[in-house]
Amino acid sequence: MLGAHSYPAGLVARVREATDAAAAACLPWLGLGDKIAIDDAAVTAMRAVLADAPFSGTVVIGEGEKDAAPMLANGEALGQGVAPLCDVAVDPLDGTRLAAAGLPGSICVIALAPRGTMFDPVDVFYMDKLICGAAGRGVVDIRRPIAENLARLAAVTGAAVTDLVVVVLDKPRHTTLIAEIRATGAELRLVGEGDIVAAVTAATSGTDVDVVVGVGGTPEGIIAACAVRALGGFMQGRLAPQTPEQHAAAIAAGHDLDRVLELDDLVASEAVLFVSTAVG
Ligand code: FBP
Repeated sequence: MLGAHSYPAGLVARVREATDAAAAACLPWLGLGDKIAIDDAAVTAMRAVLADAPFSGTVVIGEGEKDAAPMLANGEALGQGVAPLCDVAVDPLDGTRLAAAGLPGSICVIALAPRGTMFDPVDVFYMDKLICGAAGRGVVDIRRPIAENLARLAAVTGAAVTDLVVVVLDKPRHTTLIAEIRATGAELRLVGEGDIVAAVTAATSGTDVDVVVGVGGTPEGIIAACAVRALGGFMQGRLAPQTPEQHAAAIAAGHDLDRVLELDDLVASEAVLFVSTAVG
């Protein structure tokens, strides 16, 4: 849990209860191979707890749109309708395929921020991301080649590039990025699913992950941004539709696809709450 000091204890406890309930609801479905059923169990449990939580929440990030998976609806109102007024980002189950396969690494996660402060990525499901610890601020930039970013980060941290550990989602879209990272000599760690956990690890000092880079889900990007903000880390994002249809939808929704989203664009407040529970 991160950022609990910014919210009333009763609300924090209820959010904790919601991620715990979602994780518990997943257990009967672990390893049964039914991605939709396990996601649905998490969504239902999370919604039931948040429905009468002591706040006034609006779901900005409901997750699940790109896979037509069960989700809390964007715009859905949650809570008793009392203060504080919050934007809500949820991923009831991040790493659905892992959990359905009975593998570790999935989490149930909720992030809160003051109303109107979360970036709303209407109709864009994928985002290019660059995440690291505080040392990256003013040093790395998503517009630069990865080799240059790793060299610059190594220079300010006093490490060698070959000491850096870089996490990338193991997806065909990353073939070139993976080759570029390998060419630098940095340690590449490929993960099949779950870039929120990777982002939190990279933004936390003293862990064994230095950088997360590449294209993952936009909802996961906003949720990760809340955690990175609470941790004082560095993050940039850039919307990255993956098909001509997604590209057209993004343009129609009015997005500027060249815009680099800084941490303050992704979540424009320090008062973030990030709560996750590991499944299994
Ligand atoms: P879900 O389990 O919530 O579907 O997300 C898993 C995940 O690996 C995310 O952590 C990541 O951001 C996204 O999927 C990447 O999407 P895709 O698997 O379509 O490349």
